Amino acid sequence: MLKTVVCVSGGGTNLQAIIDGIERRDITNTQIVRVISNNRHAYALERARKAGIEAVCVSPGDYGDRAQFNEALIRQIDAASPDLIVLAGFLVVIPPELIRKYRNKIINIHPSLIPSFCGTGYYGLKVHEAALARGVKITGATVHFVDEGTDTGPIIMQKAVAVQPDDTPETLQRRVMEEAEWVILPRTVDLIANGRVKTGDGGAVSIQG
Ligand code: GRF
Repeated sequence: MLKTVVCVSGGGTNLQAIIDGIERRDITNTQIVRVISNNRHAYALERARKAGIEAVCVSPGDYGDRAQFNEALIRQIDAASPDLIVLAGFLVVIPPELIRKYRNKIINIHPSLIPSFCGTGYYGLKVHEAALARGVKITGATVHFVDEGTDTGPIIMQKAVAVQPDDTPETLQRRVMEEAEWVILPRTVDLIANGRVKTGDGGAVSIQG
């Protein structure tokens, strides 16, 4: 059983996609053992509670400095003894210590086709505003392992979404979530849970079978 911690900051629709995937058995051999948010008002915490999953808030405002917050975050994650950590819209800089402790066990969903429109400053609607400003015809979402960079870890899975001529950042964000994020994140969790994601020497990721 893949014990999974999901870290969230907002509405939690990606968390919900994983919860629903487990319920429908599209995702097997997986249990979400804890949901952690830096935002006590995140609706994602309510989604966790409704699903009977332990929901914990680690709020930066409750700690004197970033180091104390990082320690509390790592403590909450370690206490759940996860095999996998999923960052689902988690708007927190991940402490290097956590990445070292859980190398290739932390995955993130990013709402573009990395390496486009990613890195520092590219999150939420800003990603889709940049895609529309550049005039790309195809965008999408990416699931990748988390390393010490921002959106720079080995790519596991991507899914493309066509940009419509009348798209606004909001309509594009919604379609990327519906058609890409909510598909590839649950799929990736299931593949990891069933031992089908392998990382090669050069960091390249392959899906077995
Ligand atoms: C999604 O757009 C995701 O791509 C990004 O943050 C947003 C999270 O949305 N990482 P939700 O909290 O899962 O609804």
